[in-house]
Amino acid sequence: DASTRIRLCSTSDVDWDSAIRVEEGDLTLAVFNVNGVFYVTDDLCTHGPGSLSEGYLDGHTIECDFHNGAFDVRTGEVVTPPCMIPIKTYKVVIEDEHVTIEV
Ligand code: FES
Repeated sequence: DASTRIRLCSTSDVDWDSAIRVEEGDLTLAVFNVNGVFYVTDDLCTHGPGSLSEGYLDGHTIECDFHNGAFDVRTGEVVTPPCMIPIKTYKVVIEDEHVTIEV
């Protein structure tokens, strides 16, 4: 099995219904806490320079604060244009109260 786990942050680092940005190696990620469930996506909006961790989280929808496009943090699918390209998502594993991803 070639997958590697990368530890991103403590679960307590991310407030309920909010997001933080985490830089890890060459990845810049957004870590979301939606009602105590964690999701990880690329932080950079696929539409432009927006940082999704600074966007507006409403349920599972993250709205980019640049042009108000939005994605579903569970799947990365576009919810609202002008975004057209899905955002990359990562498989999250909670380990020792830390948010980790499998890459
Ligand atoms: Fe995110 Fe345009 S940069 S919607």
